[in-house]
Amino acid sequence: MQDLIDKLVKKNIPFSEKGKVANYIPELDKANKNSLGIYITTLDGKNYHSGDYKTKFTIQSISKIVSLMLAILDNGEKYVFSKVGMEPTGDPFNSIRKLETSNTKKPYNPMINAGAIAIASMIKGKDARDKFQRLLDFFKKVSEDDTLDVNYKIYCGESETGNRNRAMGYFLKSEGIIEGNVEEALDVYFKQCSIEVTTETLAKIGLFLARNGKTSSGEQLITPRIAVIVKTLMITCGMYDSSGEIAVKVGVPSKSGVGGGILSVVPGRMGIGIYGPSLDSKGNSIAGINLLEDLSEQLNLSIF
Ligand code: DON
Repeated sequence: MQDLIDKLVKKNIPFSEKGKVANYIPELDKANKNSLGIYITTLDGKNYHSGDYKTKFTIQSISKIVSLMLAILDNGEKYVFSKVGMEPTGDPFNSIRKLETSNTKKPYNPMINAGAIAIASMIKGKDARDKFQRLLDFFKKVSEDDTLDVNYKIYCGESETGNRNRAMGYFLKSEGIIEGNVEEALDVYFKQCSIEVTTETLAKIGLFLARNGKTSSGEQLITPRIAVIVKTLMITCGMYDSSGEIAVKVGVPSKSGVGGGILSVVPGRMGIGIYGPSLDSKGNSIAGINLLEDLSEQLNLSIF
């Protein structure tokens, strides 16, 4: 396994040249375009890593899977999906257009920005600070990493430039999808995107889902039903408008972020964290996806 991942990381680094590092806020474009790293953690307790696996980066959209778990724990499945759908959009992650044109006015799914902002509004707490603190504490439990925290420079950048997200938040409020305070929901969302992680953090969250919501000490933090919902939405919507193609080529529930991370779950087998900040036109790590494809082929990972 170690030889295999060393070889595959080397082979896929050149794909980074074809993509671009996110630059919608200044801090993100400081990433080294040619970085590529992977961390794999298996159900039988083995860890493998290669390349730039130690580099810190912000979790961005991958946070959407963890906030979804907590929102369902806080409100129940029925309420959550009365406000957010379960269908892929085929549109970019920050697209607004279907919000108004769909009959229900619900965001299509929790993996696009509009859906994730609605989900952030459902996290319980007395104010934005308390809500985010609950979410961060939950993140720490799921990833079994007590050191997780926000990168405040990125958070400030997200908040200062997040006008499109703000527009969607206020639209959702006008439609009654967001019931509470919009600015609080946005603040939770901007902060959750700015949590700093490594490939190991992502692999551990993947492992948690591969175990259907159990920590390594055997604590069942979320019901297996919630784990199934999250994994299903990852495979259908987690890689945005590349989700179908990646389901065919890789075949495991995965979620990407514009920080360059990809988190994959191989049910009953392993969690995988990948980092490669050079992105394709849809916002997915370009070398990361190619690495994942190779790995899936070599290890026969597809669930289909
Ligand atoms: O809200 C945004 O647009 C970013 N903070 C996160 C988007 C993201 O990671 C989409 N991923 N591919």
